[in-house]
Amino acid sequence: MDDVPNKLLKGIVFNGHKLIGLTILCLVILRFFWMLINPKPYLEATRLERLAERTVHWALYIALFAMPLAGWIGSVAGGRPPRWGSLVFNLPIKPGEYVADIAFTLHNKLAIIFIVLISLHVLAALFHHFVKKDHVLQRMLP
Ligand code: HEM
Ligand code: HEM
Repeated sequence: MDDVPNKLLKGIVFNGHKLIGLTILCLVILRFFWMLINPKPYLEATRLERLAERTVHWALYIALFAMPLAGWIGSVAGGRPPRWGSLVFNLPIKPGEYVADIAFTLHNKLAIIFIVLISLHVLAALFHHFVKKDHVLQRMLP
């Protein structure tokens, strides 16, 4: 995003990133509560597999909440909240370099953690499908 040469385009790309991020936050909130009230179908698994599944899924949820929240707090504290036309998605926090710095440091560090988690998660899904040959992938279908 930083490398976009045109100033107007850069603003659009940054704001687009923010709006997509906020949409993800809304969807994750819905999905999270849906998951809590709809228990997953039972799957045969060892204790270690269950521990790995719980750890990575919870970590993914935490990252899916923390990532957009950190970006949102950083943007508002940095004086550039997300916008949709005349609608400004503000937060009740005062603009300030210090908070913006902390929030964006977190946002950037979370990007790495996210990549590691998603890689582990996708590898696990492939492991189930091609090595264990069970129905974990098909369970995603409605
Ligand atoms: C799941 C949602 C999101 C993901 C996966 C995500 C991902 C990223 C990534 C990978 C970067 C680049 C980090 C780097 O420079 O190393 C970034 C930067 C940035 N994000 Fe997000 N983001 C999300 C949500 C948001 C939201 C909701 C906002 C604001 C409302 C936001 C605002 C920003 C800004 C302003 C930057 C530039 C920060 C800087 O210059 O250091 N992001 N984001
Ligand atoms: C090729 C990409 C992906 C595949 C094949 C995949 C596959 C799966 C499968 C099969 C499950 C269900 C496990 C079960 O029934 O117990 C699952 C759950 C989940 N996935 Fe993915 N996934 C992918 C990408 C992602 C990404 C990119 C994210 C997050 C950014 C993600 C987040 C989650 C979360 C949070 C759950 C737990 C859902 C719940 O139980 O509420 N997945 N994934």
